[in-house]
Amino acid sequence: MPHFRDVQRTLSQERREYPIKMSHAYPAVNIGWGAHTMVGNDAKSLGMSNALIVTTGLRGTGIIESIQGVLKHAGVSTEVYAKATPNPKDHEVMEGAKILAAGKFDGLISIGGGSTTDCCKAMRLVYSHDGQDVRSFEGAFKATQKNKLPHLAINTTSGTGSEVSCFSIINHTEKMYKMALFDPNCTPSKSVNDPLLQQCMPKELAGYTGMDALAHAIEAIASRLMVQSAHGPGLWAITQIFENLRQSAANRNNEKAIEQMVWAEMAAAISFNSAGLGIIHSMAHAMGGLYDSPHGLCNAIGMVNVCRFNLAACPERFTLMARAAGINTVGMSDMKAGEAFIDLVAELKADLGITTTFGDLGLQEKDLDALSKFAAADICSEGNPRDIGFKEMREVFKSCM
Ligand SMILES: [Fe+2]
Repeated sequence: MPHFRDVQRTLSQERREYPIKMSHAYPAVNIGWGAHTMVGNDAKSLGMSNALIVTTGLRGTGIIESIQGVLKHAGVSTEVYAKATPNPKDHEVMEGAKILAAGKFDGLISIGGGSTTDCCKAMRLVYSHDGQDVRSFEGAFKATQKNKLPHLAINTTSGTGSEVSCFSIINHTEKMYKMALFDPNCTPSKSVNDPLLQQCMPKELAGYTGMDALAHAIEAIASRLMVQSAHGPGLWAITQIFENLRQSAANRNNEKAIEQMVWAEMAAAISFNSAGLGIIHSMAHAMGGLYDSPHGLCNAIGMVNVCRFNLAACPERFTLMARAAGINTVGMSDMKAGEAFIDLVAELKADLGITTTFGDLGLQEKDLDALSKFAAADICSEGNPRDIGFKEMREVFKSCM
């Protein structure tokens, strides 16, 4: 019988780094055309009779008014907090939590994309901790109180994944970076993914958010955490994204492509919810914090260069992704298959008309040090398959300028 010491010595690098894997729960989700017409029942089944709706406003879409009508018909009255903004800010969370505490609300309903959902998740945390500063929840597992209210998340973009994840990303406006709040208490109580609502996205946003979903799948599969159960949904998401994102962004009436992107974004999120992410997201968080840049666009900009940087750390997993994207890898080495996959990602980005660089978004040489410092310290960097420190981060950033 081998001695324990010898067994310990044979532990692989991955087992030494993250010996215990965590599989995080995701909520029940209603998916399909017209799913938003059922939100009255959803809200009531969560015990809501008077809910606070959190949103950026979704002006001009009619979505808020329509959902309010459905809720009213079911006997659920609502008030609207429409001050969440893209890259939601710490003060917006605190103001929303105050409004929540001042009213007699028995539930929260977020209607929007990742920014709205994240703002609502953070408001719920703050409210459940009697107004504790949202910045105190930065990091992992910081909640000490149970949630006092249910959260129904109605998702309107095909990329975020926030409607099924336990992450909330909030701007620290004083230090100008994005904090990651990672806690099971952030997970919504129930979610809705209705392609009809997501069809209202303009084509640029469809492209950006679709690239966000692709980043989720790629980073979850390549993640150092190696949560193997994440590979199934993540690889399936990659297949769907390569088969449908171009069509969905180019023709906002292509119902099949739009619906497949809804499924793909959710599968990618289920994947990263347990497996974590990497430095595509760390960089996007730093850019969003300093320049208020769109999250999906930042991911699209960083993706190719980060994949090239990471390839040597896990070429065998890049081969899996290449196959999922439709590449015939027979006879290829893992490195060659990985390179072919990365070329395909670059092609997809070009077909979506994304030519922006970080320089175009405002990145200047003088900010590189601060950005690289924030990105290297971002919680997502822990999942990156290749070792990353300040120096490496700075080089990757620079390559995306
Ligand atoms: Fe993301």
